[in-house]
Order: sequence, then structure tokens, then C-alpha cells
Amino acid sequence: MSAQTQVRRITAPDIRARKGGEPLVCLTAYDAPMARILDPHCDLLLVGDSVGMVVHGLDSTIGVTLDMMILHGQAVMRGAKRALVAVDMPFGSYESSPEQAFANAARIMAETGCQAIKIESGTYAADTIRFMAERSIPVIGHIGLRPQAALADGGFKAKGRTDSERQRVIDEAVATAEAGAFAIVIEGVAEDLAREITQTVAVPTIGIGASVACDGQILVTQDMLGVFEWTPKFVKRYDNMSERTDEAVARYAREVRDRSFPSSSEVYAMKRSDR
Ligand code: KIV
Repeated sequence: MSAQTQVRRITAPDIRARKGGEPLVCLTAYDAPMARILDPHCDLLLVGDSVGMVVHGLDSTIGVTLDMMILHGQAVMRGAKRALVAVDMPFGSYESSPEQAFANAARIMAETGCQAIKIESGTYAADTIRFMAERSIPVIGHIGLRPQAALADGGFKAKGRTDSERQRVIDEAVATAEAGAFAIVIEGVAEDLAREITQTVAVPTIGIGASVACDGQILVTQDMLGVFEWTPKFVKRYDNMSERTDEAVARYAREVRDRSFPSSSEVYAMKRSDR
């Protein structure tokens, strides 16, 4: 028997049971080394289709493919041992029928080993969520601002500003929960709407740009670490990695150019913390 203790992985029922309890800590992850760093701190890691914009430099999530999601999902699963790992279903992989959605979700789960999938869930998606949930696919819904609908919506716009739009977001939440999703991401809505939805649905809500009124929070990791010069207005930057990386690379370039770059023996002699 191995001397290593097996870490117990957080499951969909564990997340579901956190409704109204200790807030869920969630972040996006796209690769193994970052997943390893995030894992001890997070309940849920999402391999978001934001990978298209954050890692691959696309303008929107529309060009993200199933193969990309599977590749990044496999990497995150190698890094994360404890957090529940959910993989986003990309645009075009689930909308045409519940059968299409099930086949692609099953492929994601089989090829990555992830614990759940997420779909952007307008009211139209209820049948699809029900079909998958009844066939043992743990599903997270995503309502409010739905990035895959950005082209149709004319941009990444907050939702629920008019009475009819507000009602539509509530309807999306209720339909998503009643169809069997075990959690719902709410993106880009005001605090009072997030609170009403959180009080209405029986499953945990996970907010992004949707206030503290939700049962948990998620951010794009690169946004909260300040990897980009621009971040969405609602994101607090917990670090400034773009500046710190720029400074580190400038220092390296300087040392190479002026030949002060340390030899291997000098590096070996340094204390690890000084390297
Ligand atoms: O794709 C993504 O990263 C997301 C979230 C940030 C919720 O859907």
C-alpha cells in the first residue's frame, strides 16, 4: 500500500450541499502547474472556455473547440487533486440537441476525468440539462451575461437592467435549477437580482461580477492576478503580474546583455530563496 495519503476529491453533491453555507471559493484554471497552486485554496476549478481569450488570444469564446477544452481539462486534472474540476462545453458543442450535448459531455468526462461540465443556460437549455443530469452528468448552469451570446447581444453586457430582462434572468435560473443543475454561475447582474436568485433557487449560486449576495465566487485567475494590463471593472487585482513579469524579464535581459548573468556554479552557491 502506498505511504501517500489519498486526498479526497470534492464532488458535485459536496458543492450542492454548500447552499447557504460557507461560501464556495472558485477560480478558473487552464494548465497543470497553476491548477497545482490553486487546488489547496479552491473548492472548484473551472476549465472555462475563457481559455480561448486568456491563453489563446482569441477575441471571444466562439472559436474555442471541444478538443481545446479536453486538452486543457486533462492538464488541470493532472495538477488538481482535491478541488472539483468542471470543464466548460464550448459554443456549438451542446446547443443543437440534448443528444449532441450528452455525447460531447460524456466525451469530455471520459477523456479528462473531470467531475462536472458547465453550459451557458438560457431557458432553452432546460431540456438539455435535464437529459444530461438524468444520465449521470453533473451539470453547472451559467446565466445572466453569457459570453457565448456576446456577438448576438452586441458585446459583453451586464444583464437584468430592465424589468423584462430581470425576469428573463430569474426564469433562466429557475429553469436551470429545476432541470437538475447542481450549481449555477451568475454573471454580470446587480446585487439585488443576485440576492433574489440566490434566495429563489435551491442550488448554490456562484457569482462573477454579481456581488457578494451569491453562495460563492469565481474569477478568471489571470484577471485577479493582474496578468493583463486591462481587467474587467468588477475584478479586484490581488497581484500585478504583468508589471512584475515585465520587471523580471527586463532584469534578465539586462544581465544577459551586460554579461552579469550568473554562471551555474554561482547559482548553485546561492541560497534557494535568493535565486
Ligand atoms: O469561461 C469562463 O471562464 C467562465 C467563468 C469565468 C465563469 O465561464
